[in-house]
Amino acid sequence: MAPPFPNEPAGIHVQTAIPGPKSEALRARHARVQDARTVHFYQDATRSRGNYMVDVDGNTILDLYGHIACVPLGYNHPALLEAWRGGRFDWAAGYRPALGIAPPAEWVSIVEGALSRVAPRGLSQLVTVTTGAEAVENAIKTAFVRHARKRRGGAPPSAEDLALTMLNRQPHTNDMKVISFEGAFHGRSLGALSATRSKAIHKLDFPAFDWPVVPFPANRFPLDENTAYNAEIEARSLDAVRALLASDPQIAAVIIEPIQGEGGDRHASPAFFRSLRTLTTERELTFIVDEVQTGAGGTGRFWAHEGWDLPEPPDIVTFSKKMQLGGYYLRPELFPAEPWRIFNTFLGDPIRGAQLEVIIEVMERDDLIGNVGRTGETLVTELRGLQSRFPGVFSQARGAGTYAAIDARDPATRDAVVRGLQTLGVEAGGSGDRSIRFRPALVFEDRHVHEAIERFEHVARRLA
Ligand SMILES: Cc1ncc(COP(=O)(O)O)c(C=O)c1O
Repeated sequence: MAPPFPNEPAGIHVQTAIPGPKSEALRARHARVQDARTVHFYQDATRSRGNYMVDVDGNTILDLYGHIACVPLGYNHPALLEAWRGGRFDWAAGYRPALGIAPPAEWVSIVEGALSRVAPRGLSQLVTVTTGAEAVENAIKTAFVRHARKRRGGAPPSAEDLALTMLNRQPHTNDMKVISFEGAFHGRSLGALSATRSKAIHKLDFPAFDWPVVPFPANRFPLDENTAYNAEIEARSLDAVRALLASDPQIAAVIIEPIQGEGGDRHASPAFFRSLRTLTTERELTFIVDEVQTGAGGTGRFWAHEGWDLPEPPDIVTFSKKMQLGGYYLRPELFPAEPWRIFNTFLGDPIRGAQLEVIIEVMERDDLIGNVGRTGETLVTELRGLQSRFPGVFSQARGAGTYAAIDARDPATRDAVVRGLQTLGVEAGGSGDRSIRFRPALVFEDRHVHEAIERFEHVARRLA
């Protein structure tokens, strides 16, 4: 059992509308300078604790969303505050270094220590950046470097190649492609956006690479009642990948999320992912597993792909969110032969690395992944109960660990559920067009599940 979070609030406490008057006053100020339309409410950072956010109006709000899956230890975990106050982060506080130029010695201890302890099996090299999109961009660049090296048979680029590169007219190179899946989300930067397929509004008006997309075999739940359907859509998706690989030698990589996050909590089976690994291995293509949202424990494993029993590891695993840093792990032979090809100014952020070191220590000490597994079982069982009590409102309860979701009957009902929960002091988020997703901290426990489900019931009674 994980120890209870010290001094966590006893439960939800709502004393104003959410967002309340102080949040709305702040939004008015904020909106004069930044786009504040997406803000749910303004948080009182220092008073928030454990699984509870406190907002500026004094409401205590149970957090199921975790700043879009980014809060591993809940709010203000004592280990992080003690590390901060005890001076453990002093070396990272005085300036922000360019980590590729003059990194502090402590950085080396972090990457060879905590960051190597959690490395996916077989992936001993690490690139750090700042965000998920940057991680994906650089992972894709790494795959292209590998593909071009293979095409040139190891020879260096010609003078003509280099000249045409400066005109954005590289022969062959501009035709290289990455396969991604319908509903995928891999980030919003210009390169990653060509692999993102979740919503048109994310992509509208931005030039894109002409890369192929194949259906994602979104399994229907419960799995044991839908085996034939699920097997059929997985076979169709694999056939689509096979056809592309057979017809286009310029495909360099396949990128996929273990569970589609933004796209609506869509799951596929381990067997499907094993087949993708086999197909990409056979053709020496780069298999990129995007664990930006699934990584760092939320699925009941440190990396979601650990549950696939792969014949060999992915080539690249990207991360960000709960890892605090963006980056990717990769097989050593994929590293570009020349320096400077995968590079930027910061190459990560030492203070985030220092926090991550503490986070990983607490995860190990308190067996937080075990906690996620146990709480996740309660959560999915309770979500199934909810959908059987309100079959006209909810369906498709599903999850791995506490990375869980339930569907509402249509997009309008989903939005009404999320709004209704917020009014009752529960911070929730949607995914896809009708799912409500759970991305709580790793310190989420059964009592929080029961408190959340009670609020779901309340909302469902009004919508049934
Ligand atoms: C699977 C996945 N990849 C990439 C990203 C992009 O990460 P970021 O928003 O940090 O750029 C996200 C963000 O939600 C994601 O869920």
